[in-house]
Amino acid sequence: MNLNRVAIHLKDVMGSLKVFSTLTHDARIFVAGHRGLVGSAIVRRLKAYGFTNLVLRTRSELDLLDQAAVRDFFREQRIDFVFVCAAKVGGILHNSLHQADFIYENLMISANVIQAAALYDVKKLLYLGSSCIYPKFSPQPIPEEALLSGPLEPTNEGYAIAKIAGLKLCEKFYKQYGKCFISVMPTNMYGPNDNFHPDHSHVIPGMMRRFHQAARGGASSVTVWGTGSPRREFLYADDFAEAALTVMENYNEAEFLNVGTGEDVPIRELAFTMAQVVGFKGEIVFDSSKPDGTPRKVLDVSKVKSLGWEPRISLEVGLRLSYEWALQTDAFTCSAGARDTQSSHV
Ligand SMILES: NC(=O)c1ccc[n+]([C@@H]2O[C@H](COP(=O)([O-])OP(=O)(O)OC[C@H]3O[C@@H](n4cnc5c(N)ncnc54)[C@H](OP(=O)(O)O)[C@@H]3O)[C@@H](O)[C@H]2O)c1
Repeated sequence: MNLNRVAIHLKDVMGSLKVFSTLTHDARIFVAGHRGLVGSAIVRRLKAYGFTNLVLRTRSELDLLDQAAVRDFFREQRIDFVFVCAAKVGGILHNSLHQADFIYENLMISANVIQAAALYDVKKLLYLGSSCIYPKFSPQPIPEEALLSGPLEPTNEGYAIAKIAGLKLCEKFYKQYGKCFISVMPTNMYGPNDNFHPDHSHVIPGMMRRFHQAARGGASSVTVWGTGSPRREFLYADDFAEAALTVMENYNEAEFLNVGTGEDVPIRELAFTMAQVVGFKGEIVFDSSKPDGTPRKVLDVSKVKSLGWEPRISLEVGLRLSYEWALQTDAFTCSAGARDTQSSHV
């Protein structure tokens, strides 16, 4: 497939629609963090399935760090289902430099939302952790059982501990109070509403920005850090959203689930695919003087796949969809797609 010529529409690659019985169409569904990468994908999927009773609040309308405001919100709104996609999210550099902020804000968001949801009889809640929760030297692919089996990566320890506390909160409310509060641990994600900030973006939008600028500026080469051999896993946000809806609909256990493709690609392959997607025809230089990081990071996703979910969007198609979104929204040039708090998740 020539990715530069074929227009790809999300509805054509997401496949047939599901039938819901747990998530009823009149249910009041709160998507916390609905303007972010993941929350916006969940809203897109919910709307595609015809859910209209969505309750959405920006941070300025409802600061999830404010316990009293969160309780008032749940008391007044009578929410049935919650997707907890709000979090302070960041990558290696920002995480490592602001660990107090990362642990505090993520603990508070989780504690406030989960406790208020329990207090005001939310039927089911899905909490989003992260693959960062796993020990630095986990077996690959990483099974859910690897949790708390060794020391964490020190650069994002604060964030990881807050995320572990969030998933444990769900588990303990489930076991002590019978609340159907469930957690999923997603791998690296990308897609519309991603962060294209020149210095702080995740791997995919950061690389996309540089290849785009090189292609537009007629540069003869683009340099990628490291040898290109480390392998990483990437999941398109709408594929994750479909998994989140599958779990919300079909899974009722206290044990959390990994969500990813279960397949890792070398950074070198990502770079060559990226060049094709943005139409960069110059040389790709791998700077082996820069650190590679861990050689491999991929989740064991056999449990979530046993629910019948499969990712549908290949890396090539996902990159194409993301690039179309970035061009349409001017994400490479205006501040809309350039938030100031994130760097690489990998
Ligand atoms: N992105 C990834 O690759 C990845 C990988 C694994 C796990 N995850 C997890 O997935 C979840 C969503 O991540 P994301 O990438 O979608 O993050 P994101 O794009 O940064 O979105 C986070 C959202 O949370 C909201 N938020 C943050 N603090 C808030 C507060 N105090 N009150 C109300 N809203 C607040 C933000 O609102 P504003 O827009 O107003 O700032 C934003 O909408 C997070 O739990 C993250 O840990 C993400």
